[in-house]
Amino acid sequence: MRLYPAASFVTREALEETRIGNILVPKGVCIWTLIPTLHRDPDIWGSDANEFKPDRFIDGVSKACKSPQGYIPFGLGTRLCLGKNFAMVQLKVLLALIVSKFTFSLSPSYRHSPVFRMLVEPEHGVHVQIQRI
Ligand code: HEM
Repeated sequence: MRLYPAASFVTREALEETRIGNILVPKGVCIWTLIPTLHRDPDIWGSDANEFKPDRFIDGVSKACKSPQGYIPFGLGTRLCLGKNFAMVQLKVLLALIVSKFTFSLSPSYRHSPVFRMLVEPEHGVHVQIQRI
């Protein structure tokens, strides 16, 4: 959800002229926040930003990075994803059921090539070898 968040971006339109820090956003301008870029920003996550380290979340999201807005796989604010809690419960239940019965390893034919369309997708699919435990 941090390194390869499902959604590539969130967008907001300035309904009136708005100042964000020292940037003046004119009325009508759309701002696109690129979630994968934000989630790998070393200024927010540290020099190991590109490393898979689930331990960084051990004390919750607020302690994992420098800004509470630095981790937004489900967006932020009043238009936050409606299905956030549902999706997280589903993912945890599904993953727990799968890893209790199978082991996974990447197939030698797997080519790592994430593409950033509306969703972050594996360009050539995810080739895995699955074994029943
Ligand atoms: C891993 C799964 C999911 C991810 C990563 C995800 C991500 C997102 C993101 C980034 C947004 C935009 C939020 C913003 O603009 O601040 C969004 C909006 C939304 N999502 Fe999800 N979503 C997921 C699953 C779901 C599910 C399961 C549902 C419904 C059951 C759902 C329903 C919605 C709805 C209705 C919105 C629009 C909310 C609004 O504009 O007020 N999402 N989602």
